[in-house]
Amino acid sequence: MSTFALVNCSELVTLAGPARPRVRTEMRDLAVIRDGAMVVRDGVIEQVGRRAEMTLPPKTIDAGGNAVMPGFVDAHTHPVFAGNRADEFEARAGGATYQQIAAAGGGIRSTVRKTRAATEDELMRAASRSVNWFLRCGTTTIEAKSGYGLTLADELKMLRVIHRMGTLRAIPTFLGAHEVPDEYRGRREEYIDLVIHEMLPAARKLAGYCDIFCEPHVFPVADARRILSAAKEHGFKLRMHVDQLQDSGGAQLAAELGAVTADHLEYTETPGITAMLDRGVQPVLLPGSVYALGSKRYPDARAMIDAGLGVVLATDFNPGSSPTPSIPMICSLACTQMKMTPAESITAATINAAYSLQCGHQIGSLEAGKRADFVIHDYTDHRELPYFFGIPSALAVFVGGQRVV
Ligand code: NIG
Ligand code: FE
Repeated sequence: MSTFALVNCSELVTLAGPARPRVRTEMRDLAVIRDGAMVVRDGVIEQVGRRAEMTLPPKTIDAGGNAVMPGFVDAHTHPVFAGNRADEFEARAGGATYQQIAAAGGGIRSTVRKTRAATEDELMRAASRSVNWFLRCGTTTIEAKSGYGLTLADELKMLRVIHRMGTLRAIPTFLGAHEVPDEYRGRREEYIDLVIHEMLPAARKLAGYCDIFCEPHVFPVADARRILSAAKEHGFKLRMHVDQLQDSGGAQLAAELGAVTADHLEYTETPGITAMLDRGVQPVLLPGSVYALGSKRYPDARAMIDAGLGVVLATDFNPGSSPTPSIPMICSLACTQMKMTPAESITAATINAAYSLQCGHQIGSLEAGKRADFVIHDYTDHRELPYFFGIPSALAVFVGGQRVV
């Protein structure tokens, strides 16, 4: 039994509100309490309010007059991989494109070769560095994808690493259809059969979500429909990489299949937005990959918010297109490049992200009954989070009431 009160918060950014993703102007309402306090008992939030109006337990934690927010929920990451792609980063700095590198056998397939060669423990050690990075950036929950194994054994190895992440809450997604591996080049149908008949049934024991890289040159819409229809029959819920490099109707497919999320959406136009709205698909926007690839085409966040979609922001942390675990960096990009407001960006990376992982009733806001996952930031005003960029802002990070940073 441990009970304490968090006190001396310039702003307690609670995000209290309706029990569903926030839309339109709701995304601008962070339900901030000035001079707020929060009572935590056994890792769960018991009470939230103005300090002057609360009776507090004897043990207190002083936030030092800083802003306190829910731990970030990063709803799209690829955190398990061996090695890095610094060589490709250097080549892209010299003018090569992501697509050229992939066509020459690099990109995802180069990380696949290294990840296959690594043992589970080696991968776990590499992932531990990323886990620490996430926590130090103020993220307390991630969605984590496999997808650099692309054999049954290597995909399951990755999913087991995700289950071992420990302090950071990690929600696994099976991404066996991330790329066609080297040994199946020119035999894509056979690889799809392997995914459907061998990988899906085995991966279902370790993951509740299934994802795919739906792009014309990787898994086009017809392949994606076949793979994900099979995934649904196995009981997976769906998340999808769509319309990252061109609009191929991926957002419409996500709607048709009843996916929980459609992610990337750089090239999605009005018909895709309308389809997502009709079927309640949440868009997950990943500006870190646009920034890091230098591709300059950001998703149309304003059109999606104006349409009434429960927009989510995530890092897409991976060794290729988006090597950042920092949600504050993503919020900065959302404000400067996609014209979201600071409050909208924070909503998108907390409560809306939590609902996209179907755990909005447990995390994503600071409300009685939820898990005490919160961060004391080195700021007094929440708007400083996207405004000052490139700064490690988390002074203290708590997961389930335990201090982890
Ligand atoms: O979301 N687009 C596909 N998958 C990742 C990139 C993975 C990689 O480059 O290793 C993405 O951007
Ligand atoms: Fe991704």
